[in-house]
Amino acid sequence: MTNVFRFLKQTSAEVSYINSLFVSAFIKLNGLTFCEKNYLSHYKDIDNKILESFLNTVSGGIDLERLVRLFEFVISPSDKIVNGAIYTPKDIRSTIIYHCLGNLNNEQLRHVRVCDIACGCGGFLMDVAEYIHIKTQKSFKDIFQENIYGIDIQNYAVERTKILLSLLALSYGEDEDFGFNLIQADTLDFCSNNWNQEFTSFDVIVGNPPYVCSRNVSQETKQKMLKYEVSQSGHPDLYIPFFQIAYEMLADEGKLGYITMNSFIRSVNGRSLRQYFSSNKIDVRIVDFRGYQIFKKKSTYTCLFFLDKGNYTEDIKYVSNDNGCLEQPFVFSLIPYALLDNRKGWSLNDNSEAQRIEIVGTPIGKYCSYRHGIATLSNKTYIFKPVFEDLNYYYLVNDGIEYPIEKQICRDIVNSNKLNSEINFDAIIEKIIYPYYRNQDGKLCVIGEERMLKEFPYAYKYLLSQQKTLNKRDKGHTRSYPTWYAYGRTQSLQMPRYKLFFPKFSNSSIRCVLLDAPELLLYNGIAFVNDSKEKLQIVQKVIESDIFWKYITKNGKPYSSGYYSLSGVDIKNFGVPNFTEEEKMHLFSLKTREEIDEWLIKFYE
Ligand SMILES: C[S@@+](CC[C@H](N)C(=O)[O-])C[C@H]1O[C@@H](n2cnc3c(N)ncnc32)[C@H](O)[C@@H]1O
Repeated sequence: MTNVFRFLKQTSAEVSYINSLFVSAFIKLNGLTFCEKNYLSHYKDIDNKILESFLNTVSGGIDLERLVRLFEFVISPSDKIVNGAIYTPKDIRSTIIYHCLGNLNNEQLRHVRVCDIACGCGGFLMDVAEYIHIKTQKSFKDIFQENIYGIDIQNYAVERTKILLSLLALSYGEDEDFGFNLIQADTLDFCSNNWNQEFTSFDVIVGNPPYVCSRNVSQETKQKMLKYEVSQSGHPDLYIPFFQIAYEMLADEGKLGYITMNSFIRSVNGRSLRQYFSSNKIDVRIVDFRGYQIFKKKSTYTCLFFLDKGNYTEDIKYVSNDNGCLEQPFVFSLIPYALLDNRKGWSLNDNSEAQRIEIVGTPIGKYCSYRHGIATLSNKTYIFKPVFEDLNYYYLVNDGIEYPIEKQICRDIVNSNKLNSEINFDAIIEKIIYPYYRNQDGKLCVIGEERMLKEFPYAYKYLLSQQKTLNKRDKGHTRSYPTWYAYGRTQSLQMPRYKLFFPKFSNSSIRCVLLDAPELLLYNGIAFVNDSKEKLQIVQKVIESDIFWKYITKNGKPYSSGYYSLSGVDIKNFGVPNFTEEEKMHLFSLKTREEIDEWLIKFYE
C-alpha cells in the first residue's frame, strides 16, 4: 500500500483520476472488456505508460476484495475521522449476510429489498448481489434494479459502489447499462419530510454505521442527531442514531445486521438507545468481540448486532466472542431486559456473576468517593519534571529554554495512568506550577498578578512566555478565567488528605498506592480519596483482591493484549461488603493476598 501511496502522490489524488486508474488496472489485470454504455466507460482514459507503471506498483493482481481495500486506502485521513469511513472485512460481511438472508428461500431472495444505509464503496452490496445471483441465477441487471439499495453521504462513495457493482457483474460476463438504486444523501435526514420514499420499508438492512465520536461531529450533524430519541443521552457518537433509523426504515418483518461499536452496551451516551431497545422489547442479538480488534490497526471495539423487527421479546440474546472466530455457530445466552439496568449500562457478559457481586454491601462508588484529576487544559505549560534544582528553584526546560521556577509556587503531582506494577510511584511524581492560595475564609483563589510579580517573578516570567498558548485554551474563550494563567477548570484543586492510586488499565489483579499526602495533586486517571485512612485501607484490600479482578474481567471494558479498563463506570458498582468492626479488624490482621482472597470470597458467595 505504501507503494500505491507514493505513486498517487507523484501523479494525482483526485477522485475521478484514482477511479479511472483503479478501473483500468482491474480491467487489464483480469483480461476484461466492456461496452460504451457500461457505467465503467466514465473511467477509461488513462495513459498507457502511467497504467503500466501503476501495475508494477500493485504487485499480486487486483481482485474485487483488493479493490475495496484500495478504495478505503485512498480516503483522506480527515474524511476517515469526520465520516467514519472504515470498510468492513469480507468474513464479517459474509457472516452478517448469512445471518440476515440465510433463511430466505430462492423465491423470497428474488424479491428481497436490501439496503446499506452508509454503504461506503459498496462491499456489503456487492456480496448481497453475488449471493442472490448465485442462489437464484437472477441477472445482476435485475438485482441492481430490484434488490439492492445504498446510501452514502459522500458522492465518491456512491460512484465507487457503482464501479464495484459494475465490475462484479462484468466478472460474471454481464456487460450492461445498469440502473442503480444508489443515492448520495445524509441518512440522518430520514426523519425529514422530503426523504426519498423509495428508500424505506426494506426487508433487510446491513452495514457498518459510521464511528465518529461526539467531539468530531459537526454542530449541524449534532442538531440532526437530536431528532432521534436514541441520541438524547450524554454526547452521542454518530453511529447511535443509525440503530433507530434502521429500525424505522425496515419493513414490519425486517431484519438488521450491523458490525458496530460495542460501547453503547455500557456507555452514558448509550442510555437512551438501551432504553429504546428494552421499552420496545426489540429482539436483539449481540456477538460481542469485547477486547478483540476486528479492524486491524484501529482501536475500535466492536460487536455484531442483529435485530428482527417482527419479533417482540423479553430477553436479549448475547454471546461474547473474545477471539473474533466466526466459524462456529453463535450460542447465545438469554438475558431478560428486566434484569438489565438501562441507566447504569448493561452487564451482559456473565451477567449473573457480575450482578451477584454488585448486590453485596455498598457500591464502591458510593462507599468512597473517587476523583478525576485537575484540568489545566495546558499540562505541557504547568507540569514538568525538573532538570535540576537548588535551594530555592526548580529548573524546567520548555522548547529548549531553561527557566527557574520558585519552589514555593510548586506542588507535587502524579499522572496515575502511568502507574503499573513495573513503575515505582516516586518515578511518576512531577511538579506543577500552582498559582493558588487559600484566603482567610479557606476559599481557594488565584494569586493576583501583582503578587505574582513580587513573590514569584520567575514563575510569572515563564508563564508570560507561554501566554499565547494559554490563551488558546477553550478555543480562545478564556475571558471567564479569573486570570489568564488560571487553570482551565477548578476541579480537584483541593483534595482530601488520603489518596489511593491505582492504574487505569491492567492485565492482572491490581496493585494500589495509598498515600497520606494532603498537598499531592493528580492529573489524568482517578484516585479514591478520603479523610479517613481506614476507609481507603478497606478499599485497597478489596480492589487488590482476586474477586475484584474477576469482576473487572466479567464486567469491565476489555482492550487488546488482555488489558481491562478500570475507569469509574467500570468499577463503581462493585459491591464492598458492609463489614462489622470485628470483620474490619480481622481483614486488617490478614497478611498475605491468599489469606485475604480466601476470606473475602465468602462475602460474595
Ligand atoms: C464505517 S463506513 C462503512 C462502509 C460500508 N458500509 C462498509 O461496511 O464497508 C461508514 C460510511 O458511512 C458514511 N457516512 C457517514 N456519515 C453518514 C451520514 N450521515 N449519512 C450517510 N452516510 C454516512 C461514510 O461516508 C462511510 O462511507
